[in-house]
Amino acid sequence: MRALVIDESADFSVAVRDVTPRALDAADVLVRVEYSGVNFKDALVAQAKSRVRRQPVLVGGVDAAGLVVESSHDELPVGTRVAVHGGVIGVARDGGFAEFLYAPLANVSPLPDSIATRDAMVIGTAGFTAMQSVLALEDHGIEAGARVLVTGATGGVGSQSLTYLAARGYDPVASTGSLDEAAWLRARGAVEVIGRHDVADKPDRVMASEAWDGAIDCVGGDTLHQILRSLRYGAAVAASGLVASAELVTNVYPFITRGVALLGVDSVEVGAPTRTRVWRALGAVAPTINYEELIDHTTSLDTLFEAIESVRAGRHRGRVLVDLRAD
Ligand SMILES: NC(=O)c1ccc[n+]([C@@H]2O[C@H](COP(=O)([O-])OP(=O)(O)OC[C@H]3O[C@@H](n4cnc5c(N)ncnc54)[C@H](OP(=O)(O)O)[C@@H]3O)[C@@H](O)[C@H]2O)c1
Repeated sequence: MRALVIDESADFSVAVRDVTPRALDAADVLVRVEYSGVNFKDALVAQAKSRVRRQPVLVGGVDAAGLVVESSHDELPVGTRVAVHGGVIGVARDGGFAEFLYAPLANVSPLPDSIATRDAMVIGTAGFTAMQSVLALEDHGIEAGARVLVTGATGGVGSQSLTYLAARGYDPVASTGSLDEAAWLRARGAVEVIGRHDVADKPDRVMASEAWDGAIDCVGGDTLHQILRSLRYGAAVAASGLVASAELVTNVYPFITRGVALLGVDSVEVGAPTRTRVWRALGAVAPTINYEELIDHTTSLDTLFEAIESVRAGRHRGRVLVDLRAD
């Protein structure tokens, strides 16, 4: 089969090669991949001396969607339409930038009837994380009608956070470094679009004005600090990312004077109950969503490396889809 192979066994290279799919366990499920998507994490994996990749030679791709073609599991029969993501897929074992993929049962989710395999990869890990973030805020008691800040709004997690918040009745506010995309962000459901550095006021005070009923942040660093100091009393931020920085320098005042909460969101190690809950929630909103509008562009294996570079450079909005269907 053809696959995008990252090889650092000697000199670093990323190239399309003919390889044989590898099962690591007899219980692995074989999926014929139809679509994948490019995540920020894929750009981190596909670079020399990557601190994220854990194999010198690896088929990239943390996401895949397609059909089960071999399975020893009664709950996942041949022909099931699935999404594959999480665990060490595309990081420490071969991933979805290939025509076939062996995956452990824990990383394979049957798709709701309302989500086609193509749409599942417009969603991808980014959209899964976005819906997981929305559910985390709801579990905290944040209700429809709330004004929820979304940072990194033109990105994969950000744009789908806007989409799902709007679909569930919230008033999302988009924070972006790409203000020229304001019309696109409003079309995703943003009731307001603000600049990347306009998350909080009163820079000379410990606490900023209470601006947000909730927030979804994939940026980290100082942005997360600014969110914490500008959340309303009892509000929460769901934090999943670090595109700006993994460092968080803040203080305890938001927690002890406004009772705010910092909710960690991890899509990688979550167990079956959460995966099922999130895909069910995605399935429920799917009929209201125009997935085509969330696609920046579609690539094949042959142009995938350029697409990964465009995601690394932040030259995209929404999602980059990978079409792996055999010609
Ligand atoms: N915890 C998890 O399980 C999980 C799952 C998925 C993703 N993530 C993480 O979430 C983050 C976003 O992933 P993604 O796939 O959505 O990435 P993405 O598509 O590249 O989106 C990131 C967005 O952040 C903004 N941005 C980029 N550089 C920035 C900077 N230096 N400072 C502030 N904003 C910046 C840009 O949006 P604007 O131009 O609109 O500002 C960009 O489109 C990544 O850190 C990723 O690793 C975590």
